[in-house]
Amino acid sequence: MSIVNQGARRSGFFVACMLFAIAGMAPSGNAVAESVFAGSDKPTVLITGSNASHGLAFAEEYAALGWNVIATCRSPEKADRLNALAAENSNIVVEELDIVDQGEIAALAEKYSDTPIDVLLLNAAINTFRFGPVRFGRVDYEWALEVLKVNILGQLMVSEAFLPHVTASEQKKIVAMTSTGGSIVENEIPIAPIYRASKAGLNMLMKTYALTLKRKGIIISIMAPGTVDTEDYMNAEDPDSVPSNYKTMIKIGRLAPRTAIDDMIRLIDGLEPEDTGVYYEWTGRVIPW
Ligand SMILES: NC(=O)c1ccc[n+]([C@@H]2O[C@H](COP(=O)([O-])OP(=O)(O)OC[C@H]3O[C@@H](n4cnc5c(N)ncnc54)[C@H](OP(=O)(O)O)[C@@H]3O)[C@@H](O)[C@H]2O)c1
Repeated sequence: MSIVNQGARRSGFFVACMLFAIAGMAPSGNAVAESVFAGSDKPTVLITGSNASHGLAFAEEYAALGWNVIATCRSPEKADRLNALAAENSNIVVEELDIVDQGEIAALAEKYSDTPIDVLLLNAAINTFRFGPVRFGRVDYEWALEVLKVNILGQLMVSEAFLPHVTASEQKKIVAMTSTGGSIVENEIPIAPIYRASKAGLNMLMKTYALTLKRKGIIISIMAPGTVDTEDYMNAEDPDSVPSNYKTMIKIGRLAPRTAIDDMIRLIDGLEPEDTGVYYEWTGRVIPW
């Protein structure tokens, strides 16, 4: 059963079962296997890049809230922490997804064609604001093309493939993780030009997509998460265990506490149709483009 026919998914499935029952037939034979969360009355989130950092923290917190979590990453066999989390939480399923592999994206969308997705959380990206080869005069153009492909086009590839699932859901939200570094107005430090360009490009893409999908009731949020202390370095018992870049971030007050993940989930929960296409910081501040 394709999700495009599932505006009234649950009632449609129910009616079909009733008809089979009335006719004395079981819906078996060539029926396609249901995906793991099909028919669930819990909301579902699909998170990209959920093997590490923000993505892993989102998977953990959404699971704790009782959501169904489709936690995707490009190498599940190496995702030890995510696999351990999934082993402890039956509402997390780990799936392989490289966000620029169109074959893989299409296969996963098909696998979940019976599952409405309330929140499509576009978290995966090549995140190079602080650490990457980032300065003019030293740009590796092959690498730069990959950053633009993953951080801009990959987000759209996943959004378009899963749009039917989002459309069929109750909440109908696509949340694209951007960065304050994508703001042209607030750009005062000349570093990370490729990453900044990728996030500014993502902002434009998602703003345009939001305008396109507004009539369908889809809410697209463009959200800058800041650097969240997902490892809880702020409370580390052994200060030597804190990486030096994080020590600096803590010192200059640029590290958001782990609770910022919960704040973002609350922000996502509260999104209304009029918030579509708005560029939010995790604090709820509206960022100028
Ligand atoms: N941390 C920050 O300071 C900060 C600030 C502002 C915005 N953000 C944004 O917040 C999001 C999460 O950041 P983060 O700090 O958690 O980043 P991170 O630690 O660098 O993790 C990035 C994630 O994206 C995945 N990824 C990269 N390319 C992928 C691809 N082609 N297909 C699928 N997954 C891919 C990585 O998978 P692998 O492990 O397989 O590489 C990893 O899971 C990103 O969009 C980032 O730009 C972060």
